[in-house]
Amino acid sequence: MKADLVINEIKTIYTPYLKPPLKGSQMNDIREINNGFIAVKNGKILALGEGEGKEFIDKNTIVKSEKNKIVLPGFIDSHTHLVHAGSREDEYDDLKRGVPYLDILARGGGILGTVSKTRKATFEKLYLKAFASLNMMLSYGVTVVESKSGYGLDHETEKKQLLVNKKLNALHPIEVLSTYMGAHAIPVEYLNDKETYLKFLVEELKKFKKENLFERVDVFCEESVFSLEETKFLLSEAKKLGYDIKMHADEIVSLGGAGLGVSLGCSSVDHLMAISDEDINKLSSSKTVANILPGTSFYLKKNYAPARKMIDCGVAVSLAGDYNPGSNPSENFQLVMQLASNYLMLTPAEVLTAVTINPAYHLNIAADKGSLEVGKDADFIVMNAENLAYILYHYGINHVKDVYIKGKQVVENTKVMEVNNDFN
Ligand code: NIG
Ligand code: FE
Repeated sequence: MKADLVINEIKTIYTPYLKPPLKGSQMNDIREINNGFIAVKNGKILALGEGEGKEFIDKNTIVKSEKNKIVLPGFIDSHTHLVHAGSREDEYDDLKRGVPYLDILARGGGILGTVSKTRKATFEKLYLKAFASLNMMLSYGVTVVESKSGYGLDHETEKKQLLVNKKLNALHPIEVLSTYMGAHAIPVEYLNDKETYLKFLVEELKKFKKENLFERVDVFCEESVFSLEETKFLLSEAKKLGYDIKMHADEIVSLGGAGLGVSLGCSSVDHLMAISDEDINKLSSSKTVANILPGTSFYLKKNYAPARKMIDCGVAVSLAGDYNPGSNPSENFQLVMQLASNYLMLTPAEVLTAVTINPAYHLNIAADKGSLEVGKDADFIVMNAENLAYILYHYGINHVKDVYIKGKQVVENTKVMEVNNDFN
């Protein structure tokens, strides 16, 4: 069979190849193909390997040579709060002066400030802001994004966020996977009646079931937000209804959220800056993925999750951006990878595994995404680099040259206009 597209003369193709979840030392085991090619047919990978792929080329095939470049699977950002209104630079001074994140929330700022702006925003405004963010993420090589609701905390606004996700998924090249997070904070109208809000959330899960607007449910399990017991109640109800379940766990206070997540069968537990050794052991003997968000530690000037220790103990780790207006207002996914390398002490191969096949696994899309293998979606990135370590070492910048999603080119090298010595 001939290909629609062949990319060849690639310096090195790097891809995970083992069956996920990749745990512990498996995370460092990736395939490297030198002087390689990728052949694409109908948006899927037809073949890949060493050589020029000549047998897949005829007069109708588009052929591109990528000498001195590397190719990677598209990055999967498996934890974002993409859809929201406004920004929170007015809290920046307090945050930098050391006012705790949870204190800002308690006085009606933080998440609750964004909730009131998101409630007021039109669908169109939310859509356009999120679309612009997706474009930025795409330029950094992200081809799949998980996007949570949770800035509405009432039926109407949560639904508005979920419908924005649906429209983005239909119209933007990035695949947008929707998650319900009504349990992101307690809304002001229920501050003194959490019990009723919990009941409301369960009713919402039932009501939304028929509408098919999300497959996953997430809860912010944290001191003064949702307790272990409340999280257990909500996620058990969600599970009974057939949803996949996730948690924001042990982000600030070590409550034991990760251990609870394992016992409930969460596909991932996220953040984990304050995880206990006991819960690391529980994770290592489970299929729950530890989803680490180093951009948030960096931005909030907090400690980093013990990802090195987790991998050494046999845990499956993934990395995500946590793009949101409060604790990580940045779409630069490569910076997240570079922080993982520099502060979490992950090897380049572990970083790659953590942004491709492991997030694909916990988002339940590993049959089509997360690695470059015959039959999977042709989602890949051509990088302006000669080896994988270089993109982590040369930090803070964007190394993407081109991005392809389902075989279609969606980012093309953006060139700076030529600047000569006689510019002045
Ligand atoms: O993942 N921890 C809770 N949620 C977000 C922050 C959201 C916000 O501050 O608006 C997070 O860090
Ligand atoms: Fe989050």
